Amino acid sequence: MDAVPEETHRTRFEPSGRTVDAAAGDTLLEAAARAGLVIDTPCGGGGTCGKCRVRLLPAGEPSAAEARAFSADELAKGWRLACRQTVSRDMTVYIPESSLFGGRHQILTGHDTEDTPEADSEIRQQPVEMTPPSLTDGTPGLVRLERALGCAEPLEASPETLNRLDAALRDGGLRGAAVLRGARRLLDYLPGAAEAPSFGLAVDLGTTTIAGALLDLRDGAERGVASRVNPQTAHGDDVISRISHACTGAAALAELQDAALEAVREIIRELCANAGVAPESIHTAAFSGNTTMEHLICGINPAALGMVPFVPVFGGGVTVAAREWGLPLHREAKARVFPVIGGFVGGDTVAGLLATRLAERPGTTLFIDVGTNGEIVLCHNGELLAASTAAGPAFEGARISCGMRAAAGAIEKVVIGDDLHLGVIGGGEPAGLCGSGLIDLCGQLLKAGLLGPDGRMPAPDTLPPGTPPALAGRFTVSESGEPCLVLHRDGARDVTLTGRDVRELQLAAGAIRAGFTLLLRQAGLTPDQVDTVLLAGGFGSFIRRDNAQRIGLLPAEIPHDRIHYVGNTSLAGAKWAVLSRDAWRHAGELARRVRHVELSNDPDFAMEFAMAMWFPG
Ligand code: FES
Repeated sequence: MDAVPEETHRTRFEPSGRTVDAAAGDTLLEAAARAGLVIDTPCGGGGTCGKCRVRLLPAGEPSAAEARAFSADELAKGWRLACRQTVSRDMTVYIPESSLFGGRHQILTGHDTEDTPEADSEIRQQPVEMTPPSLTDGTPGLVRLERALGCAEPLEASPETLNRLDAALRDGGLRGAAVLRGARRLLDYLPGAAEAPSFGLAVDLGTTTIAGALLDLRDGAERGVASRVNPQTAHGDDVISRISHACTGAAALAELQDAALEAVREIIRELCANAGVAPESIHTAAFSGNTTMEHLICGINPAALGMVPFVPVFGGGVTVAAREWGLPLHREAKARVFPVIGGFVGGDTVAGLLATRLAERPGTTLFIDVGTNGEIVLCHNGELLAASTAAGPAFEGARISCGMRAAAGAIEKVVIGDDLHLGVIGGGEPAGLCGSGLIDLCGQLLKAGLLGPDGRMPAPDTLPPGTPPALAGRFTVSESGEPCLVLHRDGARDVTLTGRDVRELQLAAGAIRAGFTLLLRQAGLTPDQVDTVLLAGGFGSFIRRDNAQRIGLLPAEIPHDRIHYVGNTSLAGAKWAVLSRDAWRHAGELARRVRHVELSNDPDFAMEFAMAMWFPG
């Protein structure tokens, strides 16, 4: 039977002018993603955050979510939510800059980890001078090169490389630089060059952001860093949404794989253009990401991760020819994907362990990678235990009524004195509250006695005596009768904190606290026995320690000077793997050595999690 042709419609996005043929029924979020325009979706396309604003004319009847998100005037002007609108005809859609994810998103690529290891890549190069062929010396070109290089074993090379070597020799290029992988594989021969350009690519595959670094393999120097929003966010903000989408069929899995690979291709192009480097001179690459992201980029069905007992398909690393992925690197470059530990504790954690030399630290160290999925590793005298915990997206500003990612306009710092004092990214008017701002605000409210351990927000008439008037004036009751705190007044769009927002934060912080408490208990330890806490993740660098302790995200028993931010350790570890053969080998050993603890199997889990729902004290 002939397949029914898919009905598509020409969908044009302004002001970029990008146009796609979108399938009827696709949401505008999906159509925009296909056009390379990633719209911010803090609620994962759930219709609750109101952040995916677009304008289209004519616009049909608004949905209930849209009626809540816009004023009557805005609705009349055609403002709608991209996650609620589907393609049903040829259409032109205006996407304001403020709805696009990439332009406003702060991406942390820095890290404060151990010194990068000595450059000892599997890729090496050697200057060489060969003797010319003659009637009395008919040595084949490759053997001639082997001899000049002093190889102990015969070299191997692809027909393409052999052709290049042959052409160089026929042109008299007897002096040049050879690039080799390991002892035997010849990758390139550059006639006339004393040194061949040779680079490596390190990639951190984040659920939200993909970051890449270009490394010079000759001296280990970083030649640039670039990042992109992970285009898979069009299919949800968390790994569970991505797994669900991938499980809808082979086409969906391929779509997710290709979306991530296209972002990597863009990163490569940007890195190379900025550094004046030819992409073909990138000879090796390493990728680290959480278990789901690594499955998706490999095109491996992550279905088993979406059901009990959450088992990944692979444990050891995966090596793929970069050419198979359509990456514009050297024709023989290999992409190495980090090994995973188990469940949702993935290659990004292994990379983090590598870059912080966690296993070599004396005493007791807690490594906490804060994100939608919190990953926690406890190292006690060299013994390693790891667990993951679904913290939810509150730390990224999602599922918070006025939440937003750490971007221009986000409140990232809060200090309470006679009134609220707000620190806003970019210094402009506050537009919402990001994760660090939410932690700061709740930590400060707890300190001021304006929030109880149960997280209940006081009503205006139940404020403690002596509350400064300016502060007291900010406590009000929402239209739904819920007490709330106004952070910034802006007519119809006040930035507020509601009791439900506090609850989301309690859930997120509680999940991480329950995680480290149970890991410590399994090792027979208490929080006061922890010598050092290493806080990793793009989010970590913006957290203030005292407020993070007040809300229970970090153990209260640890003095501040023993809490260290280590930044994006996933990217740092990927760089190590590119630069050092030993580091890559060690990553495999670490992944095998760490004992993965499935927290939901712990009989104390439910009790500990319920207790962690309360703020400490
Ligand atoms: S309302 Fe559309 S993504 Fe949140």
